[in-house]
Amino acid sequence: MKNFIPIILSFLILSCSKGYNPAVVSARKEASDIGIEIMKKGGNAFDAMVAVHLALAVTYPIAGNIGGGGFVVYHTSNGESGSLDFREKAPGNAFKNMYLDENGGVIEGMSTLGGAAVGVPGSIAGIFEIHSKFGSLPIQDLFQPSINLAKNGFVVTEKQENALKDKLQDFINVNGKESLFSKNYKQGDTLKNLQLSITLDKIAKNGSKAFYEGDIAKMIVDEVQESGGIMTVEDLKNYNSVWRDPIKFEYKGLEVISMSLPSSGGILLGQLLKAIEGYDIEKLGHNSVESIQLMVEAERRAYADRSFYMGDPDFSKLPVYELMDDEYVKKRMESFSWEKATTSSEVSHGEVKVTEESDQTTHYSIIDGNGNSVSVTTTLNTNYGSKVFVEKGGFFLNNEMDDFSSKPGHPNSFGLLGSEANSVEANKRMLSSMTPTIVLKDNKPSLIVGTPGGSTIITSVFQIILNIYEFNMSMQEAVNAPRFHHQWLPDVVIIEEGGIDSVKDSILRSKNYLVISLPIKVDGPGMSARSSIGKVDAIFIDENGKVSIGADPRGDDHGSVLK
Ligand code: GLY
Repeated sequence: MKNFIPIILSFLILSCSKGYNPAVVSARKEASDIGIEIMKKGGNAFDAMVAVHLALAVTYPIAGNIGGGGFVVYHTSNGESGSLDFREKAPGNAFKNMYLDENGGVIEGMSTLGGAAVGVPGSIAGIFEIHSKFGSLPIQDLFQPSINLAKNGFVVTEKQENALKDKLQDFINVNGKESLFSKNYKQGDTLKNLQLSITLDKIAKNGSKAFYEGDIAKMIVDEVQESGGIMTVEDLKNYNSVWRDPIKFEYKGLEVISMSLPSSGGILLGQLLKAIEGYDIEKLGHNSVESIQLMVEAERRAYADRSFYMGDPDFSKLPVYELMDDEYVKKRMESFSWEKATTSSEVSHGEVKVTEESDQTTHYSIIDGNGNSVSVTTTLNTNYGSKVFVEKGGFFLNNEMDDFSSKPGHPNSFGLLGSEANSVEANKRMLSSMTPTIVLKDNKPSLIVGTPGGSTIITSVFQIILNIYEFNMSMQEAVNAPRFHHQWLPDVVIIEEGGIDSVKDSILRSKNYLVISLPIKVDGPGMSARSSIGKVDAIFIDENGKVSIGADPRGDDHGSVLK
């Protein structure tokens, strides 16, 4: 009889719901399964979000985290949409030229490796804030699966073995030979993280204060300072997440909701979709020479604006809707020609009036039975962040400080340039490209989408939206389809294997496009080694409410739909 109670409960929940099949797609099967279990127990999408976030912190330490930050975009079953910014902040002692030597040169690696790279983490504040506003199950129930998972361990996959091996020397250099991750893990090994299980248990019992004050805060500060950083216990105590108005705009009758500053994602997505809206892109065809040209030219112009205008909106007055204004975007595209590429040296940021109104990350998408939809992108920045591992706490710290512009004209790890708006300042949030997005059709959730990939995040989300609504692909086909990317500078189109054939490649070259086919094997100026673009985890809901998922085969990503 005991076993029937949860079944009856699930049946009651689903039968009382608005009839969506709950679904979770994330970077790990364990995390997606935990999210589904939470919803089976009566939790909503926000409860599932908390549980999935923590499960990724355990099983996907390359990007899943409690030592990083991110953004949530949501749409509730009663039609309310919003977003929460739990992005990291610069420590209170940070200053503009902190990554420059006495000659004004950028100190190699200082903003990416070790304590000086670490921003004040936001993830724990973020999940507690979400839970206090929308959660329905006790927080302990949402932590418990990950406490168990950290204690009992998870199985290392082949991709994880390779990623861990790739950074092994960095782990040894930063944390010493005895550190948990300074070992040679192999596919099939069970990786247990007892310290993380203890940390999560403390936070579950004592709330987010247990992370931002007290002994966990002290552990973080000790690790950061021992490896050359400047974060203090006050920085942690003063951290807060911020509710922000999401970016909202229309594209051919769809309503798109995405993240606003300090992420550039939503604004750029708006610019890109508006730039191509006047063209019949469906007719041009998926990955045709013409559609690539059109999209690349939109991307070139949007990323030039990004580098000039964008940063933390709490520090200066920055344009938002001015950059997505229809007339402005149209004017920016006037120099586009089908005959020949516009070179990036001919393109700078556009002129807008600021008015008084105002490579490794991970994404997960969730919908519950009532249609509450949650789109979350979270990160440590590059793989395993700063590599600083809080040994006694069992978690990595981010290197998000690299997302600031260390010096105008100097590219960050993703080759992105920045200006004054994104210079380092005490307590400021660094500019992001994360683009957690929800598309509504007839006021109902239609697509929940996002991806990791640094600067390529925005163009990947752009392509998924077009793959679904213009090229009529299924959710999984849209995710699988080869992607390409351009970001103004460097002036190259990178394209995944199989993205175009040699004929299209030579036509694009004849029009002055410098096309680089992946994989790129070694880091180059402004471009890191990579074999693919993004890892999209998305959910599509058709007009009849049927839910389908797309889990990216580029990673170990996995989705579940509760039938
Ligand atoms: N750290 C990558 C991003 O925020 O865009």
